[in-house]
Amino acid sequence: MIPVCVPLLGGRELEYVTDCVRTNWISSKGRYVNEFEEGFARYCGVSEGISTTNGTTALHLALAALGVGKGDEVILPAFTMMSTAFAVLYCGATPVLVDAEPDTWNLDATALAGKVTPRTKVILPVHIYGHPCDMDPILGVARDHDLWVVEDAAEAHGALYRGRKAGGLGDCACFSFYANKIITTGEGGMIVTGDEEIADRARSLKDLAFQKDRRFLHTDVGYNYRMTNIQAAIGLAQLERIDEFVEMRRAHAALYTRLLRGIPGIRFPVERPWARNVYWMYSILITDEFGLGRDALMGELANRGIETRTFFMPVHEQPVCRDMGLFTGERYPVAEEIGRRGLYLPSGSGLTNEEIMHVATAVREIQGGL
Ligand SMILES: Cc1ncc(COP(=O)(O)O)c(C=O)c1O
Repeated sequence: MIPVCVPLLGGRELEYVTDCVRTNWISSKGRYVNEFEEGFARYCGVSEGISTTNGTTALHLALAALGVGKGDEVILPAFTMMSTAFAVLYCGATPVLVDAEPDTWNLDATALAGKVTPRTKVILPVHIYGHPCDMDPILGVARDHDLWVVEDAAEAHGALYRGRKAGGLGDCACFSFYANKIITTGEGGMIVTGDEEIADRARSLKDLAFQKDRRFLHTDVGYNYRMTNIQAAIGLAQLERIDEFVEMRRAHAALYTRLLRGIPGIRFPVERPWARNVYWMYSILITDEFGLGRDALMGELANRGIETRTFFMPVHEQPVCRDMGLFTGERYPVAEEIGRRGLYLPSGSGLTNEEIMHVATAVREIQGGL
């Protein structure tokens, strides 16, 4: 079986975790939390890191720290993981959708300005599958309308936009460190920002909004979104190898593309001239020319011991949204199309070239045998 993703934990993870256990620093205080937050923020080119329990809570916390609430609108892509939309709903705010670009699969910035209303508070672009969004036009719309920009960079550790790291492009950014991410803490997340006010507010809200000078006095509804020292210990060890992991993902993508090239009916991930795509997951679209639908291909690959995943189902098509009366009658044709045709192949950093060759050969044989 070739799993879709396996974390690579061959560095100092065990040494650092053992240190937590030996020294009794197993909760959310301790040197690894600070070092991981500082180190990852520095990696993104900003000053502040606020670790959280996962990427979904990082998104919720970021929006809460910006004061997003009932009556506010947040613009996000129709094509994303539901965490992005859920974070908006947790705040009682209204998600407003924008269709995807057909090649990068990111939010189509040309459609953004038309979605801004007097209630819009935040633009929430998502760097899908590791390709950064075209941020200049997004930041331009934000500037024109005085909006916050929160990057959902859950899938884009190390991605570059015009030479700058994803995570350092908006007012703040949210990462996930789930086990399939480019670096992992098992479960975990982080907000990074260069804005000290946002950071202070996020730090307070993530820690139950205890008052600094009188601990059990609360003037806000806070959350417990604290990462543990043990998680951060794993994160710090992972961070030490992040450049290596990014290069592995990129090398795997290049090999996949080379081996799959020429098979009819496959559309490949792109890399815009201004971008460094980190290929979080090696993602392809299966068009009619392939001769077999996306789901049937996934079934054939599963029969050969190769695990794959479908693309996200667009936000407006999710039953939970329909049941809530959201997005009634709205259509986002690109998101719908890629949601139906997309899949990702095994993509973890630890994947071997032999495994990639095995997967590519299987895809070629399945198509060739039709
Ligand atoms: C785009 C996007 N946003 C947010 C998240 C949420 O991260 P987590 O699973 O750590 O809650 C994910 C997770 O995969 C994601 O892909």
